[in-house]
Order: sequence, then C-alpha cells, then structure tokens
Amino acid sequence: MIMDFLYRHVVKPVIFLRNPDSVHELFVDAGEFFGRFALTRRIFALFYDYRGPDIGKTVDGIRYRTPVLLSAGFDTDGRLTRILPELGFGGEEIGSTTANRCEGNPKPRLTRLPRNKSIIVYKGLRNDGVDVLIKKLKRTPRTPNFVIGVSIARTNEPAASTDLEAGIRDYVASFEKLVAASAGDYYTINISCPNSFTGETFTEPAALAELLPRLRQVPCKKPVYLKMPISVPWEQFAALLDIADTNGIQGVIIGNLNKDYQSLDHPEDAPKEYRGGLSGKPTFQRSNEFIRKTREKYGSRFTIIGTGGILTPEDAMEKFAAGADLVQLITGMIFEGPGLVRRIAERYAQERATIAS
Ligand SMILES: Cc1cc2nc3c(=O)[nH]c(=O)nc-3n(C[C@H](O)[C@H](O)[C@H](O)COP(=O)(O)O)c2cc1C
Repeated sequence: MIMDFLYRHVVKPVIFLRNPDSVHELFVDAGEFFGRFALTRRIFALFYDYRGPDIGKTVDGIRYRTPVLLSAGFDTDGRLTRILPELGFGGEEIGSTTANRCEGNPKPRLTRLPRNKSIIVYKGLRNDGVDVLIKKLKRTPRTPNFVIGVSIARTNEPAASTDLEAGIRDYVASFEKLVAASAGDYYTINISCPNSFTGETFTEPAALAELLPRLRQVPCKKPVYLKMPISVPWEQFAALLDIADTNGIQGVIIGNLNKDYQSLDHPEDAPKEYRGGLSGKPTFQRSNEFIRKTREKYGSRFTIIGTGGILTPEDAMEKFAAGADLVQLITGMIFEGPGLVRRIAERYAQERATIAS
C-alpha cells in the first residue's frame, strides 16, 4: 500500500528525528483537527479505512465495525473519536483517565527503542481528568459502530498516599461519574500502570478483592473489564482472574506494559535505571501466553481483548488464535504507520472467508 510505503520511508524518518513526547502531542492535535471536518475525514477514509466484506463483531452486546481497537494511553482525553473510525479502527480505549487531572512524570515520558520495536512509557497517567473527559465526550458527535471504552486509573500525584482506602475511593469517584453521565460503551479498570507514584497496589490479589466489590456497588449496565499486568507470575495472574470472576467483571485486557528490560532484543539500548514499562515487541509473547492460559482455564467466561506487540497482521492473527475476541494496539501504529489497522482488518476478513469455505 502506497501509504505504508510513504509512512515508512518519508514520514517516519522525519518524525523519528523529533522527540516522541512532542510527536505524540502533534499527532493528537492533528488528529483532532482533521476529525472536525467531513472533507478531511473523507480523505483519510479514502486512504486508510477498511472497505472489504463485513467483519463487524458483537462482543458483550456491543457492535464493533472492525475487531481492531486503539489501546489505552494514546488518546487519553478523548480527542480522536472522530478521526479513528476513518483509519479502520472499530473502537478505541480512551484514557486512562483519573478522578483528578494528572500532570504526569517529568520528561522524557516516552523513549523510542527502534531496534527493539518498543517504547519506554513513563507518562505517569498524564491526563486532564474525568470531568473534562466527560464534557468532551458529551459534545462530540458519535460515529455508528465505533466503540468507545473508557479506562480508569488511580490519580497519580507525587503526594498521593498509598493508602488502600484512598485508592479505592479514587477509582469509585471516576467510575460513578462516568456511569452517571453514561459516557462510553464499556469501562476498563486499569490496575496495572507500571509508572505511577503509588505503584501497582491493586495487582495484589488481596487489594483487588477490596476494590472490585466497591466498584460493583455502582449500578452499571455496561461491560466492565480489567486491564491485566503481564510482569507477574501466572499464579498471581490467575488469582486476579479468580477475583474478577466472582466480582462481575465481564472481560480482561491482556495486557499492560512489560517491566523487564532484559526481555528486549537489545537490552543495552535501555537506560540503566528503570524509566517505565516497555510496549511493543517485548510484550508480545507474554501477552499471548496469558491469553492462551486464560482461555484454557476459564473457557468463555471472560471476553478477552488481546494487546501487546502487534506489529504485523500475522501478529494480530496470533492473538486471535490464542483466544482474543478483539485486539488493541498502539506501538505497531507508531512503527508501521496507521495503514497497519486496515491490513489487519483485511487479513482478518481473509481468514474468516477461508474458515467459512
Ligand atoms: C504511549 C503509551 C501510553 C500508555 N498509557 C496507558 C494508559 O494510560 N493506560 C493503560 O491501560 N495502558 C497504557 N499503555 C499500554 C497500552 O495500552 C498497551 O497495553 C501496551 O502498549 C501494549 O500494546 P502495544 O504493544 O500495541 O503498544 C500505554 C502505552 C503507550 C505506548
């Protein structure tokens, strides 16, 4: 595809000269701007939207036009809901949003590791907060069958106490507001952000067992998912799934960033000190392994959204083969260009046709 070629050989070499924090901001600004006008939306759709046979999928009662979603962390404040459907996405996960605005960690918040097809993410949940997000979603027109999930995390402030009860109240506050405003189609509880001041308190099974019943008290008719850590042993992961199972969680997103710099193809490219979790290729195998094991152990109990290291259509097919109902990505879009989404959709359509024949 001409657009893939242009991205790889013209756009990417230029943008990769600039620091990733400002490129990210530039892309979100541009995406929001181009999403405002029917003409620019149509031009993007012409180059990037999927136009093959119907591959729409209904998951937990929600219709997705394609099974490929933008993962949480790229569009933290819900500014891209109008442009992403034109790029072939079936939905996006906005956020993670928090009860209060978060400034995020000091820069650099993003570091590219091109040889490793990975990004070190040290954003620290930088976002405008749930109130601003709700206002934004309320005034933005919706695109049919383009699904909006909202990811909720605990407010990340240097002074935040690690007190469990304070953390629970923070999640509940965001969740209550989103539910009351009926903002978004599904909600994800992100317990696994590896670069926040308070750490990953709720990846401890005992802490999650306190959090989920409290969230369950909020009457919500929409699906609620859990964003899972991948840098934990399977036993801990399975214990978290057991708690999700008994607390009305409909699905799991597998998973978040990888904390192990030794899992890079070239660990020498990483900083000596820990500077945030790894996205992209170093997340691929671990996420597939946990998807497979979750399906084996729990059958169809959970919806599974497979996330981590999808850099080619074949990678996405591996996630589906492992047991994912839907897939999400960010890093593949940054390294391979937005045309990757359409190529995945086309490949998915081909596989479906082969199975049907
Ligand atoms: C720039 C960036 C910011 C992210 N921020 C979040 C976040 O706020 N919440 C979250 O649940 N995951 C966040 N993630 C993790 C992604 O949602 C995803 O789980 C991970 O990057 C693996 O997918 P990928 O390899 O396709 O990027 C972030 C990832 C990136 C690259």
